[in-house]
Amino acid sequence: MLVTICHKVWPQEAGRFVAIWHKILGQHPSDNTRATLGERSSCDEVSQRARAMTHVAVLPGDGIGPEVTAEAIRVLDALGIAHSEHAFGGNAILAQGVPLPDETLAACTAADAVLLGAVGLPELEGKPVRPEQGLLGLRQELGVYANLRPARGPGVDMMIVRELVGGLYFGAKGVRDDGTWFDTCEYSRPEVERIARRGFEIARARGGRLTSVDKVNVMHTSRLWRDVVTELGATDYPDVRLDHALVDSFAMTIVQAPETIDTVLTENTFGDILSDVAAAVTGGLGLAASASLGDDGPGLFEPVHGSAPQIAGQGVANPAGMLRSLAMLLAYGLGRHDEAAALERAVETALAEAPTPDLGGTATTSGFGDAVLRALAAAPG
Ligand code: NAD
Ligand code: IPM
Ligand code: MN
Repeated sequence: MLVTICHKVWPQEAGRFVAIWHKILGQHPSDNTRATLGERSSCDEVSQRARAMTHVAVLPGDGIGPEVTAEAIRVLDALGIAHSEHAFGGNAILAQGVPLPDETLAACTAADAVLLGAVGLPELEGKPVRPEQGLLGLRQELGVYANLRPARGPGVDMMIVRELVGGLYFGAKGVRDDGTWFDTCEYSRPEVERIARRGFEIARARGGRLTSVDKVNVMHTSRLWRDVVTELGATDYPDVRLDHALVDSFAMTIVQAPETIDTVLTENTFGDILSDVAAAVTGGLGLAASASLGDDGPGLFEPVHGSAPQIAGQGVANPAGMLRSLAMLLAYGLGRHDEAAALERAVETALAEAPTPDLGGTATTSGFGDAVLRALAAAPG
C-alpha cells in the first residue's frame, strides 16, 4: 500500500499524506495508486496540488460523537468539501493505546480545519490514559487558545470567549510525597493578553460590551488577568465598554438575566463551566457549538457537549450543536460565510420541524439531519 510505502520512508509524514490524498480524491489511497505514486517526487507533486484544495480532518470520537458527526459529514458531502476520518479519544486508546495517535495529529495539522464529535468512555474514567488527555493535547498542539462559545435563545445573544490552552488544565500537577494531589493554575502575561485581545476584538464586532470574568477576590492569577484586561482596554480598546464580574455571581447572572450579557471573556476552567450554564439557559447542551482558534493553522470545531454515554447508541442525540459547529467551521475556518449562514438557517428550520427528544420532540439524529439537508437543498443560491 502506498501509505505503507510513505510511512516507511517518512514515518512522521504518513498522516499528513493520508490527509493530502483525501484532499485530492476524497477517498483513502488504494493499491492501484502504487505504480504512479511510489516515489518521493510523486508525493511532492501530490502535496503541491493538494495545497490548493480544501480538506477537513474529521474526528468522530466516542459515544454520541460518531452519531452527530455522521450528520455533519452528510452536510460536508452536500457542499462538496473533502474530508477524512481519524481515530481519536477512547476508541483510539482501545485500538492503539493512545488518545491522539501521531497519524491523527499529522492529519489535523495538515488540514484546513478540524471537526470533532466528542470524546469520553465511562470505562476509561479515572484511568492513567484517558480520552480527554487527547483533546487537551490536540488543542495545545494546534495552539487554539481562543475558544468561542456562542449561546443564543429568545432575547439572548451572548458569546463566551474562553482561554483554552492555559490555567488549571495545563499547569503543574501531581502527587506530593505526603500523598496530597495537586493541580496548579498558571497564567503568563502574554497568555492573558492574547486572549484578552481576541475578546475585545469580538466584543467590538458585536454589541461593543465586554464582561471579563475572574475570581480576583481570591485567586492570584485573577489579579494578573484583571490588570492585563483593564490595561489593554484602556490603551487599545477604549471604545469597548468593559466591566468585570466575579465568577460565582456571574454564573447567577447567566441564569437570571442572560439577555443583559454581550461578550464574556474568561479563563479556561471558568469558561468550561459557564459555557455549560449558558447552554442550559438557551435550550440545552445539544444545541451549543464552539470554535477554537489560534493565530494561524487550522481551527478546531466541536460541539460543547460530551460523549453522553447514557444516550449513546440510541440514535436520538441532537446533532444541532455539531451542525452549528460545522457552520462555525465554514465561516471562521474556511471563510465560506454564505454556506455558513445557509447551514445556520437550515438548523433553525430543522429545530422547528424535527426536534429531537432533548427538546421534547421525537425526531432521531438522522431525521434531524434529513430536515437540515432538505432545508439546505431548498435554500436559494
Ligand atoms: P455530556 O455533555 O456528555 O452530557 C451531559 C448531559 O447532556 C447528558 O444528560 C446528555 O445526555 C445530554 N446531552 C449532551 N449532548 C447531547 C446531545 N447532543 N443531544 C441530547 N442530549 C445531549 O457531559 P457528561 O455526561 O458530563 O460527560 C460525558 C463524557 O463526555 C465524559 O467522559 C466527559 O469527559 C466527556 N466530555 C467530552 C467533551 C468533548 O469531547 N468536547 C465535552 C464534555 C464532556
Ligand atoms: C469541553 C469539555 C472539555 C473541557 C473536557 C472533555 C476536556 O468539557 O470542551 O467543554 O473541559 O474543555
Ligand atoms: Mn465542558
